[in-house]
Amino acid sequence: MSAERVTIYEVGPRDGLQNEKTVVPTAVKAEFVTRLLAAGLPVVEATSFVHPTWVPQLADAADLMGLLGDQLGESARDLPVLVPNERGLDRALELGLKHIAVFGSATETFARKNLNRGLEDQFAMFEPTVRRARDAGLDVRAYVSMCFGDPWEGSVPVDQVVAVGKRLFDLGASQLSLGDTIGVGTAGHVKELIGGFVAAGMSVDQLAMHFHDTYGQALANAFSALQEGITTFDASAGGLGGCPYAKSATGNLATEDLVWMLHGLGIETGVDLNAVVATSVWMAEHLGRPSPSAVVRALAHSQE
Ligand code: HMG
Ligand code: MG
Repeated sequence: MSAERVTIYEVGPRDGLQNEKTVVPTAVKAEFVTRLLAAGLPVVEATSFVHPTWVPQLADAADLMGLLGDQLGESARDLPVLVPNERGLDRALELGLKHIAVFGSATETFARKNLNRGLEDQFAMFEPTVRRARDAGLDVRAYVSMCFGDPWEGSVPVDQVVAVGKRLFDLGASQLSLGDTIGVGTAGHVKELIGGFVAAGMSVDQLAMHFHDTYGQALANAFSALQEGITTFDASAGGLGGCPYAKSATGNLATEDLVWMLHGLGIETGVDLNAVVATSVWMAEHLGRPSPSAVVRALAHSQE
């Protein structure tokens, strides 16, 4: 069973740029976001309202959202942003943003490394954040990281991921994105994890998959999830991405690789593949290194 249409949740400007050694100028980030929207990506996660010293690459979040407001008008407020806590929410509310995403960890060690608190204490941070966001009329997405494996704890049991993910979702999220933060998942494990969430009462429409491509499995994993009925996939233009607090994480599933596969299956995305490739080639020039995506390389050369 697979869908006729898939929603791609583009995370390049956030997951991609949070992990770059160089800080990309705000105007270049804004152009990245607007080019991705113009290429037909229906959702583009723009930035993070996290602590600026924890992720200096995205310290210009407020300036970026202001610039996007000048360029896109009211619709800039629909762009989702990452928010870990009430301080981040206050910053998003000041700008009138309408979509936030909180991000929890399925493991104790990564919760400490990424959020500076333990597995249990992360909920004390998210609960008031989600409640206040919902009371203010915002939509909330929840991410759960380390769903397959953790660099410090090894393989993560499905039951543990389901318990954390369901609890996060039940705080009031509209969608739960399951993150393979370090890209160690394989296709059978994907099937098992989705089955675990379905057995716990969640529907596949409430789930999204967020694959990193460290072991080259991201596209196979996406295909496996597609067969389980998942219709929302996170991806990053050009395959940028990673997490500064999980050193073994590399880039996300490339948007272009995902679109190539989906269009090949006759599944609609609304995305203009050549426009995304041109955007990734342009961004690679800014970053000073080529995109790791095989589809970007192939199509960029075929357009030369
Ligand atoms: P903390 O140091 O424990 O924060 O950091 P705190 O609550 O103790 O506050 C300390 C100070 O920081 C206070 O200031 C706060 O106001 C300030 P003071 O009173 O001392 O002057 N502060 C903030 N300032 C601005 N914005 C904020 C904010 N929060 C507190 N939001 C915190 C805790 C969660 C903030 C920190 O650990 C943090 O920012 N972590 C973010 C790490 C991150 O962004 N990681 C990457 C994203 S997750 C990811 O990539 C995975 C994902 O892609 C899925 C996957 O692949 O699995 C989503
Ligand atoms: Mg990620």
